[in-house]
Amino acid sequence: MKLVANVASGIESVSKKELINLGYQPKVDNGRIYFDGDYEDIAKTNLWLRSVDRIQIVLANFKVLSFEELFDHIYEISWEEIIPINGKIIVNARSKLSKIFSLSDIQSISKKAIIKKLQTIYHRQSHLPETGAEYRINVRLEKNLAEVWLDTTGDSLFKRGYRIEKGTAPLKENLAASLIMLTNWNAEMPLIDPMTGSGTIAIEAALIGANIAPGLKRDFLFNHFAYVNSKLLENQKNAAKEVINRKVNLNIFASDINQNMIEISQNNAHGAGIFNLIHFKQLALRDLNVPNESGVIIINPPYGERMGESKQAHLIAKEIGNKFIPLTKWSKYIITSDLDFEEFYGMKATKKRKLFNGAIRTDYFQFWAKN
Ligand SMILES: C[S@@+](CC[C@H](N)C(=O)[O-])C[C@H]1O[C@@H](n2cnc3c(N)ncnc32)[C@H](O)[C@@H]1O
Repeated sequence: MKLVANVASGIESVSKKELINLGYQPKVDNGRIYFDGDYEDIAKTNLWLRSVDRIQIVLANFKVLSFEELFDHIYEISWEEIIPINGKIIVNARSKLSKIFSLSDIQSISKKAIIKKLQTIYHRQSHLPETGAEYRINVRLEKNLAEVWLDTTGDSLFKRGYRIEKGTAPLKENLAASLIMLTNWNAEMPLIDPMTGSGTIAIEAALIGANIAPGLKRDFLFNHFAYVNSKLLENQKNAAKEVINRKVNLNIFASDINQNMIEISQNNAHGAGIFNLIHFKQLALRDLNVPNESGVIIINPPYGERMGESKQAHLIAKEIGNKFIPLTKWSKYIITSDLDFEEFYGMKATKKRKLFNGAIRTDYFQFWAKN
């Protein structure tokens, strides 16, 4: 089957690398990552990919200029091989730069075509019961080209299932994991997350360091498909448990000025099963003692828009600069929507990368260590 991994803009290279490391040959096209696989691969990628949002099966693609054409193309798909008689059918639509653009019409016409086909094949004139497992179909149109996907994931993969409490402005787990994978950090190096909030960066680093599959604590839609044996996911999860590095010793330091945040991050770390792998401390940035070795610092400061005013964000940028510019053996990475960050930090970044934290446009400012 042709599969597609949906990822946030700016993260494609990270997800591509993850897929290559899992043994696939991904192709990036228009912000989507395509690769081939069967249901075992669907189980494996849902379980192991840290940076992506979801994995979907590409059911069809075609050119479409009218609703009649849309109906016919959707009707042509062998829905009886995909959706059982009692399947709950959910259709979502998106349209960009296309002749047909009314999402509610694309949605309802696609659903009509699916139901008509199933009624014909299953010899049903009445309504289909839709009381069984969910089959989420996504119809995506761009420049009059449609792709039809079957979602295998369900809730986005950023929902790992370990988060107990949120904090004020938490990063999504897949963005936090991507931020780590964009650095040169490995499990032998120290990592500092000095504005840890609910602990997402530190927790994701601990999961990476101990080789814990990010999806181990959650379920996926495909696991409920009528024709998928639930042993498939169970076997993959058992295999993933076997490769956890239970003896790993990590140097991950998570601190925050707010004691309440430290308690929240500790609860989340407990939820993720890696509490013992992170050193937590309530500490203001100015009091942080950074050892005279080399390592990686990742900071997600409050951003103006979400937590305070931009003046405050500039003051924090200044404080971060005063503290970290002298530490030349450490690589520093800061994600912020304050695009003038370098000016207040006091130094030009080695590199920056445009990323989105949800809907917020940010830059990931990178200040590499001098060795
Ligand atoms: C945007 S939040 C971090 C969110 C976090 N990445 C998460 O996923 O939950 C910023 C955090 O910086 C902390 N903070 C603000 N000023 C600080 C300072 N001077 N020293 C240490 N922490 C600070 C806040 O308490 C807040 O928890």
